[in-house]
Amino acid sequence: MNLHMNNGSQHMKGNTTDTSTRLDKDALEALLATSRVGRAVSWTNEVWDTVDSTNARALALAADGAPEGVIVAARQQTAGRGRLGRAWVSPLDTGLYMSFILRPNLAPTALPLISIAAGVAAACAVEKTCGMRAGLKWVNDVVHRGKKIGGILCEMQNPPAVVLGIGINLRLHPNEMPEEIRERADSIENITANPVDTNVMAAALCLEVERVYAQLMSNDRQSVLQQWKNYSATLGRHINAFYGTETTRGKAVDLAENGALVIETDEGERIVLHAGEVTIRNEDGTYA
Ligand code: BTN
Repeated sequence: MNLHMNNGSQHMKGNTTDTSTRLDKDALEALLATSRVGRAVSWTNEVWDTVDSTNARALALAADGAPEGVIVAARQQTAGRGRLGRAWVSPLDTGLYMSFILRPNLAPTALPLISIAAGVAAACAVEKTCGMRAGLKWVNDVVHRGKKIGGILCEMQNPPAVVLGIGINLRLHPNEMPEEIRERADSIENITANPVDTNVMAAALCLEVERVYAQLMSNDRQSVLQQWKNYSATLGRHINAFYGTETTRGKAVDLAENGALVIETDEGERIVLHAGEVTIRNEDGTYA
């Protein structure tokens, strides 16, 4: 494997650095306004030019004892992972690919809330940095006008660690997307027509992850749930919910205390969806 970690200095061009699209460890760390995330004293953050998957790398570090707060990020992933065994397309300098090592003191039943909190963090970071309002599609898609611009993948490691992986499309061109997602995915720069500084966006994401995760850990769950609801692109909408071979059609009516989605079926029955995914009904009656 041709893995290459960057430390910033190698990217100097004359007196300037092209930090706008290129993720760079020194630039990111200089911009960090966090007190815990990215601030582990006994362990360094990793920013790779190329890595298979930042989540895979962070899981390996967690197994080696890396403490909470360590960040693994990359300019490019060769085997980026999405939910449900899917791939996450991760070409060079087109997106944010970041993983956070967390060691939450939460009951197993509350762990799904980390994904909910991460969605809030991603949506806030996009809003503050890019000046656009993103939505959250249950369980963890960051969306804009029905198209996906980001996703979250939480993976577990023993002894208890959670690797929180966040991917955000900054400037992924439709030609770089697999055909099957081309109609359903978008990129921030395509939406706003404004350049995004990758390091500024990465630092903002770190700060928002720290903020929302701290609320979760201080038992301020209601605040996290309410923020998710404020960004929700799912609640109040007619949906198809898929879990395994089961499909449920109905209206998404609430987010439960543990982050599950409460659905009122067309038959008037209330069901609670803990996992799976949903498609949302468009005005023309199609689902996306
Ligand atoms: C999804 O399917 O929506 C989740 C996508 C998660 C992608 C991110 S990119 C950084 C981290 N490393 C990975 O391999 N996956 C996550």
